[in-house]
Amino acid sequence: MKQFKRTLVTTALPYANGPVHIGHLAGVYVPADIYVRYLRLKGEEVLFVGGSDEHGVPITIKAKKEGVTPQDIVDRYHEIIKKSFEELGISYDIYSRTSSKIHHETSSEFFRHLYEKGEFVEKTSEQYYDPEAHQFLADRYIMGTCPHCKNPNAYGDQCEACGTSLSPLDLIDPHSTISGAKPILKPTKHWYLPLDKHQEWLSKWILEDHKEWKTNVYGQCKSWLDLGLQPRAVSRDLDWGVPVPVEGADGKVLYVWFDAPIGYISNTRELLPNDWEKWWKDKETRMLHFIGKDNIVFHCIVFPAMLKAEGSYNLPDNVPANEFLNLEGDKISTSRNWAVWLHEYLQEMPGKQDVLRYVLTANAPETKDNDFTWKDFQTRNNSELVAIFGNFVNRALVLTQKFYGGVVPAIGELAEIDRQTLTEFQNVKANMEHYLDIFRFRDALKEAMELARIGNKYLADMEPWKLIKTDEARTATIMHVALQIAANLAIAFEPFTPFTAKKLRNMLSMGEIKWSDLGRIDILKEGDKIGKVELLFEKIEDDVIAFQINKLQETKKKNEIDNYKPAEVKANVPFEEWEKTDIRVATVLECTKVPKADKLLQFRLDDGMGGRTIVSGIAQSYPEPEKLVGRQVLFIANFEPRKLRGIMSEGMILSAVDADGKLVLCEPSREVKPGSTVG
Ligand code: MF3
Ligand code: ZN
Repeated sequence: MKQFKRTLVTTALPYANGPVHIGHLAGVYVPADIYVRYLRLKGEEVLFVGGSDEHGVPITIKAKKEGVTPQDIVDRYHEIIKKSFEELGISYDIYSRTSSKIHHETSSEFFRHLYEKGEFVEKTSEQYYDPEAHQFLADRYIMGTCPHCKNPNAYGDQCEACGTSLSPLDLIDPHSTISGAKPILKPTKHWYLPLDKHQEWLSKWILEDHKEWKTNVYGQCKSWLDLGLQPRAVSRDLDWGVPVPVEGADGKVLYVWFDAPIGYISNTRELLPNDWEKWWKDKETRMLHFIGKDNIVFHCIVFPAMLKAEGSYNLPDNVPANEFLNLEGDKISTSRNWAVWLHEYLQEMPGKQDVLRYVLTANAPETKDNDFTWKDFQTRNNSELVAIFGNFVNRALVLTQKFYGGVVPAIGELAEIDRQTLTEFQNVKANMEHYLDIFRFRDALKEAMELARIGNKYLADMEPWKLIKTDEARTATIMHVALQIAANLAIAFEPFTPFTAKKLRNMLSMGEIKWSDLGRIDILKEGDKIGKVELLFEKIEDDVIAFQINKLQETKKKNEIDNYKPAEVKANVPFEEWEKTDIRVATVLECTKVPKADKLLQFRLDDGMGGRTIVSGIAQSYPEPEKLVGRQVLFIANFEPRKLRGIMSEGMILSAVDADGKLVLCEPSREVKPGSTVG
């Protein structure tokens, strides 16, 4: 394997049209941060670069919807994203943005350089134009009927009803979402990166020289290459973005996927104006892109082709992309608000950054899509972080306080069991390195947790709290060993749960830590004084989880209502058939819950004909049935009587079914005589 002197780690620049959610974190930001912290602990030279992606059509759409400028939108979300990353301990060397001056300059120069070298092809094609708004229309600005499922509200790039990818030309009856006008086709010139000309070296570089890439990444690249690469437009007709820096390109900007990855370069330049080139051009620098799976083609094919075309830049050494994280069984979606938003989590769960980092790593979608559930979050906190890691550390430190006044006791002669315990965790370092080096962070985390398990078991077996009464010297050795394990935990967990690791380091008065100390049993010295003991983790109670689950349920309900589509109308019924149904009005005399049936209410009705009883399945929509007394209802008077839970029900009460499934009683708009007919 090639030896490198330093590592540049980049993370996909999140779009600044919304905050970041747990899917982003699990896929990109937490793994990248783990890796960077690991390298730093090893004393390696590393640079960690991030930023917001502030161009692209969705940002302009959002701005238009809110009646503000695109800059207002990105200013808002850039701040939220940046602050929330900081609070979660994502330890960037720089987190900047693509609306910055230096980025406009850098990406503009980059384009210009490729343009002058003749690396683009120019092509004119017909595209949809809004004759009233006098502008070309991005795919998202065109709506029409989906040719596949006939959904009348399909977008020019995708039908959200059936999920099919579309081209605007596929739409039936297209219209502009800006003016409503019918778009016309008009010729427009754009610059294309001829990926077909890069096919050959890309195939060799990826398929032969990078067989070590993760199988999901390698596989996706292979299928793109097998299909044969096509030229890709790198400019757009749009007024938000980096202007195309050539003559006669008014109203055109760089395609967001052209300028955004150059953001990695701009941000490095911003941080290190005089020293940035060594991170991008020195052959001894290794570059890694942490991304989600939807970004693979851009980072493994398009951006490398751009870098190669430029000529002086390094190519990435690896692109450890992850799959997706789902939430409670459903795909995370910004537009449907189906997400756990980082900034909200930080507010609602103060001080629990490490719990989230831990859970997202333990359940990371490294090889396949995974599911986040609040129940799993609670279980992992309570039965792993609290019961194993936290419990062990707490016991070790509290007993040290109690028996030795907080001073590390002397180690005596080792018994067989001590030796066994010590050898068990000697391998932790090598095992963790093995996994960390190949970006398998969940397995690495499991190894770290194994260390806590070893410690926990050791104390449980040795029972120093009993032994102290009979064998003081032996107890000292046991506590000494336990404290060394705790010190090891402070190192092993630093990449994963940095806040906790720091707390533990302070409690053990450890000062600077080094990765190379992991596995050693002389990290703490006899006589070292330990600091104030605090709990590392606290139990998460059911009500906290219920609050979160409830919040998601509310979102789901709201989405159902927003997307409500009335059911298909049933087959026609001839008048003579319809006429047979006898609908009447009644006044409610009594209404009570049917015992042991959570859906049923029993009504006693004044039907103007001597009264009747009807049992109706609406109890869940009417939790206080007594309040219905005096109200009027509609009911089918000639519905064949039937027994429900032993009660003879003489008819059927009519209710509307609302979008959220709630049943709503139908009532005449003013009081009428009980027994009146309805028709
Ligand atoms: N904004 C893109 C996304 O969220 C990622 C851009 S990555 C970069 O999918 F390399 F282009 F910056
Ligand atoms: Zn469709």
